[in-house]
Amino acid sequence: MAVTRRDVLTGVLAAAASGMVGRALAGQGRAERRLTAAPARVALVGSDRPETAVWAYDGEVPGPVLRFRQGERVRIVVENRLPGETTVHWHGLRVPNAMDGVPHLTQPPIPPGGQFVYEFDLPDAGTFWYHPHVRSHEQVERGLAGAFIVEERTPPDVDRDIVWVIDDWRLTPEAEIAPDFDAFFDASHAGRLGNTVTVNGRLPTALAVRRNERLRLRLVNVSNARILGLVFEGHVPTVIALDGQPVAPHAPAGGRIVLGPAMRADIVLDMTAEPGRSYAVLDTFYPNGAYRLTDITYEKSAPVRPRPLTAAVALPANPIPAPELDRAERHTIEFGGGMMDPKLMRAMQAGSLSQADVAAVRERMRAGRIWTINGQSVLGHAHEPLLTLRRGRSYVLALRNETAWHHPMHLHGTAFHVVSRNGRPLLRRVLQDTILMAPGETAEIAFVADEPGDWMFHCHILEHQAAGMMGTFRIS
Ligand code: C2O
Ligand code: CU
Repeated sequence: MAVTRRDVLTGVLAAAASGMVGRALAGQGRAERRLTAAPARVALVGSDRPETAVWAYDGEVPGPVLRFRQGERVRIVVENRLPGETTVHWHGLRVPNAMDGVPHLTQPPIPPGGQFVYEFDLPDAGTFWYHPHVRSHEQVERGLAGAFIVEERTPPDVDRDIVWVIDDWRLTPEAEIAPDFDAFFDASHAGRLGNTVTVNGRLPTALAVRRNERLRLRLVNVSNARILGLVFEGHVPTVIALDGQPVAPHAPAGGRIVLGPAMRADIVLDMTAEPGRSYAVLDTFYPNGAYRLTDITYEKSAPVRPRPLTAAVALPANPIPAPELDRAERHTIEFGGGMMDPKLMRAMQAGSLSQADVAAVRERMRAGRIWTINGQSVLGHAHEPLLTLRRGRSYVLALRNETAWHHPMHLHGTAFHVVSRNGRPLLRRVLQDTILMAPGETAEIAFVADEPGDWMFHCHILEHQAAGMMGTFRIS
């Protein structure tokens, strides 16, 4: 049977919960929270090694897991006791623009000693996270990041709900954070790759499980630059949500869960092996850099139940408006720049590059504007919008990665439908807020411009963002 692209798209989008429910949802219950950002010291690499000076929310790295219920209204008072300005961005949450935490764009930065009150509704359930948006490549690297969990109204039936905030650090031999945040090499290549990967702020110890237990594991990659490719030896994880947005339960392609910086996956793991056995969790993303992240160890105790659970865990869709693809306005967004810029290399080989062209590129890069979006490379947060979108309209953006590097591209303010990749429609409905694009890759994403304001669109390799790989979309 020939399935046309249109059938797939219609099916995909018909499955979407539609309707403009959005952000005006009336609060059903309120929750209050304080969050203080301040320097701290933590035993990142174990109690037998020196402590690491970090910047932390409430003294913890990662910051405390903020847990709320879908439909609640939250009020979070953020206090800044850092030596510099900060803000908090609620990554993946659909908040009003003024609550989005982007300095100079949606709010003034919070000065040292100051505070800011964030208040918003939680229309969507899922696994999200929070982090600063001021010099993120430094502030996130210093430890400011935490998981933000919004529980479903009826959470699925699992034995344990576990959060893994995975971070990558570049530490000195004394276990201090290497202070080379603005290194040109990192900014122009793959970002700041570290040398120490932690789970929930510690060198991982084995996860103890019991036979026939069912786990929901929420994986959050808060690394500046490291892309994860997680393999659970001896087990087939079932992906139930990506970037907090429910997806039809499925095994990941090639058995591996690939998460660029800022990306999340919720997986269900059925612990079906024998008591006493142990399995590695590997990160195999970089071909020459595979390593064992941690282990899963079965306790010798009796199984939790005689047989593993078999019912699929399918989460209800969030009330995100469905784009009308037929009537959508289309735009192309092209990523360029960086080292080994393929366009530049081709022009060089063709001999069509003048001395002046070369000098101009060199000058741009020297000025820290290393990456481009549609030819623009901007620094700071307030810029002329890349696009102005009309509220209520549907948009399809054709993304093209014309660079030699991976880029996890993040859109603030909404989750988007991933419509196609490299010209091929997706087989299932996928919503994400961050899309990892391999070198040369293309993708189409679609969304409804439903909340007015200036929304950032940037690479979440934070060194790339700081080196110009960002822009804004204005919805008016
Ligand atoms: Cu996770 Cu612009 O942010
Ligand atoms: Cu990038």
